[in-house]
Amino acid sequence: MRVIPLTRMASAHAGSHQGRLQMRSLPPLSLYIHVPWCVRKCPYCDFNSHQAGADLPEEAYLQALQADLEGALPDIWGRQVISVFIGGGTPSLLSAQALDRILAMVRARLNLLPDAEITMEANPGTVEAARFAAYAASGVNRISLGIQSFNDAHLQALGRVHDSAQARAAIEIALRSVGRVNLDLMYALPGQSEAQCQADLETALSSGVSHLSLYHLTLEPNTVFAKYPPVLPDEDSAAGMQEMLESRMAQAGFERYEISAYARPGQQCLHNRNYWEFGDYLGIGPGAHGKLTFHDRIVRQARLKQPQSWIDAALAGQGGHIAETRQPALDELPFEFMLNALRLRRGVPVAWFEERTGIPLADIARMMEEATRKGLLDADPTRLMATPLGWRFLNDLQEIFLA
Ligand SMILES: C[S@@+](CC[C@H](N)C(=O)[O-])C[C@H]1O[C@@H](n2cnc3c(N)ncnc32)[C@H](O)[C@@H]1O
Ligand code: SF4
Repeated sequence: MRVIPLTRMASAHAGSHQGRLQMRSLPPLSLYIHVPWCVRKCPYCDFNSHQAGADLPEEAYLQALQADLEGALPDIWGRQVISVFIGGGTPSLLSAQALDRILAMVRARLNLLPDAEITMEANPGTVEAARFAAYAASGVNRISLGIQSFNDAHLQALGRVHDSAQARAAIEIALRSVGRVNLDLMYALPGQSEAQCQADLETALSSGVSHLSLYHLTLEPNTVFAKYPPVLPDEDSAAGMQEMLESRMAQAGFERYEISAYARPGQQCLHNRNYWEFGDYLGIGPGAHGKLTFHDRIVRQARLKQPQSWIDAALAGQGGHIAETRQPALDELPFEFMLNALRLRRGVPVAWFEERTGIPLADIARMMEEATRKGLLDADPTRLMATPLGWRFLNDLQEIFLA
């Protein structure tokens, strides 16, 4: 069986909103590329990441990625791509040549904006100056480093492959290579005090990076931590850390523009913003998710998760690497939209709801009225935006838009 391009899928997969949506325009389009391997699996992590063997099957991965991209081209024909995000897993396990081939392959096949944001995720245990300079020469212009903490005992408790000294060295190399650098930090770590949490933040701030992502450590199902839970700071203590982080970040000149994301002016992550703004994204590589809009429907896709299964299926060229294709039901779209848009501190223009879901705003007027009455949604008629209270109790606000 050949891949059925999404553009011709209407009769093959008649979805529940078939024929009812009317998109007047298509939203911006981003590209996500998943690299599924890590040096070893961290005990808290539920990403689609797999411990790498002695050698990565780089050549097979590149060929499969090309087949995956080429199979998707009919669905995005003629559309401009505003950003690329190479995530994982640990993309910094790729050789400089492999990364260069990926970006050359993308440029040759897609209409990539000349100054597109091209982000690559990296683990500080896999950072080398020469390789990072080569990534930058190939076009990577933003690096996101999984630092997690600068405290060696905490890094060990998290099963990280790097220590604090490597984390600091990696930041210097990343800043020298691309300038735009994000650090991921986690807080409420096993045995962490508020003073230790603040010490991590101060080190991050003094490094000179322009973007920080601060994540509350969560115990995800099907991870080692879920099976053998570590002792974590209690709720009050974690809330104290969150408050301290927020006020210290504001003092340091960073805007908390999304629940976990903080940036200096002009340094927000455009790629992630596009997700939150209910933009489109093509996701290629094992386990990658995508969302694409057509004039009459929205389609979500997921690739096979197992790296070898995805490689085999993508190379076979029959479309078997796509594990799932579905059209969200009409009544799921308001919640999906709000799940993303209300994460942004300033929300989105109200017109984007109709433009990007194809659903008349009048259809959610009752929900908006309820959310405003409860003090969770801002009354500004030009924006869909949480109030400070709604942002604090975001789940309660988002749930109002559940069908
Ligand atoms: C794909 S990883 C980033 C790059 C690289 N894999 C690394 O870990 O260095 C994405 C980020 O999600 C965060 N993360 C992963 N699992 C988490 C969890 N259970 N709770 C909170 N944050 C988590 C970590 O900060 C991690 O850096
Ligand atoms: S290095 Fe990153 S993606 Fe890999 S297992 Fe650890 S947290 Fe997950």
